[in-house]
Amino acid sequence: MNRDHLEELLVQIDLYVEELFAPPDPVLEAALRRSRDAGLPEINVPRNEGKLLQLLAEIAGARRVLEIGTLGGYSTIHLARALPEDGSLVSLELDERYARVARENVREAGLGERVEVRVGDAKELLARMVEEGEGPFDLAFIDADKEGYPEYLEWALRLSRPGSLILVDNVIRGGSVLDPGDELARATRDLNERIARDPRLSALVLPLIREQIDGLAMARVLGS
Ligand code: SAH
Ligand code: DHB
Ligand code: MG
Repeated sequence: MNRDHLEELLVQIDLYVEELFAPPDPVLEAALRRSRDAGLPEINVPRNEGKLLQLLAEIAGARRVLEIGTLGGYSTIHLARALPEDGSLVSLELDERYARVARENVREAGLGERVEVRVGDAKELLARMVEEGEGPFDLAFIDADKEGYPEYLEWALRLSRPGSLILVDNVIRGGSVLDPGDELARATRDLNERIARDPRLSALVLPLIREQIDGLAMARVLGS
């Protein structure tokens, strides 16, 4: 099989899975439309990854979820859907305007009661959360500025308990981590190595097909 054919086949398989397991959903489509109309960048997780996030949160039995990087709340809605009635999700976002769009999207999704979007630099917000004894969170999803990832991983660990799940988006970057040609790819490769070697974690990166192939790191926090 030549490479073009293989690539086309992978895309078709991805679409097949997406249509079957993450079919168009009026609430999610409305959220994307609102985000687009407000001029937000279209860098939300794809539909199938959204479903994966929801499923992982369900499997983890998550009651408290932490998200770093809200954008318009698209991934937030998926994660919040996995929560029980009395569950809660805290999502951190630097941009006040994005946060406002996200709050509206979450409210329109009927999840306003379970979700709190906090505005600020996640590094500062996370430091305050640790200081104030917040947590532990059952699941953390890291998807903000990529330069901050190593720090976010440490904060997420401090806000976790044994058994918590830590997820990190965009860790394959079109395969550029294999042979890093830029700073971001190098930093991501370093991060993957850290996650792989961290004795506090049991982890794997799951490659995912997107516009360009990317991946989600999935790490379970081990007991001490
Ligand atoms: N999780 C979203 C996508 C997030 S995009 C989804 O899949 O739907 C990354 C987001 O991180 C952007 O909205 C950006 O404003 C935010 N961000 C960037 N730097 C940040 C920082 N230092 N603290 C908090 N949020 C940050
Ligand atoms: C991009 C994609 C993401 O999932 C993200 O979190 C940030 C940026 C991108 O495609 O540029
Ligand atoms: Mg992302």
